[in-house]
Amino acid sequence: MQTKLRHGREKGTHPVVWCMAIVCTAVAIAVIVTGIVVFVGYLVIHPSVPVISVVSAHLDKIQNDIAGLLEAQLTIVVKAENDNTKAHASFSDMSFVLSFQGVDIAQLVAGPFDVAKNESQEIPYKVVSSSIPLNPEEMQQVDLALKADLITFDLKGHTRARWRVGILGSVKFWCNLNCQLKFHPLNGSYMNSPCTSRAK
Ligand SMILES: *[C@@H]1O[C@H](CO)[C@@H](O)[C@H](O)[C@H]1NC(C)=O
Ligand SMILES: *[C@@H]1O[C@H](CO)[C@@H](O)[C@H](O)[C@H]1NC(C)=O
Repeated sequence: MQTKLRHGREKGTHPVVWCMAIVCTAVAIAVIVTGIVVFVGYLVIHPSVPVISVVSAHLDKIQNDIAGLLEAQLTIVVKAENDNTKAHASFSDMSFVLSFQGVDIAQLVAGPFDVAKNESQEIPYKVVSSSIPLNPEEMQQVDLALKADLITFDLKGHTRARWRVGILGSVKFWCNLNCQLKFHPLNGSYMNSPCTSRAK
């Protein structure tokens, strides 16, 4: 290997090596400059991460029968917020699973949509469960919940958010939601509690 290289040098590949060194230096400088531009851009734009949260909900109906089937109807309003005053945000792959006692009730999805600078969008979901078969233990949980006038559902899911930050291109990340939705079954009202993807 050594001899070959020396041999090559003698034959005059020096300019090629020089060229490569120059190209490497240019690439390194470009990388550093890009890094500085992105960093300064970040400081100037000062983005705040888009947030999804549950803003309101209502338990429209809940019913269980002796055969062990549960039926539920809920309204859940999810809000996608873009607090940025300088960057558009787009949301895609929004998907949540609503479950009760570990039993999946419904999947909530939304197509891709855009949220303009400093805007927000509310997505109302009307969830109508099909008859969900419950085992006797789960049935008992429902009975207890109805008697106590407090029923808890789990809402888990995520959405992919993407920012378009002018010339800097776009930044992608996931917003995750994992919370409990509590209702009073008697009047269907939602017990407001924080349910947001905002980092604590
Ligand atoms: C962003 O929206 C809020 C309320 O919607 C408003 O008070 C504020 O002035 C807006 N900011 C800009 C920079 O548009
Ligand atoms: C529903 O019932 C709960 C508990 O009984 C009560 O705290 C709440 O204010 C009621 N909500 C409405 C809208 O009537």
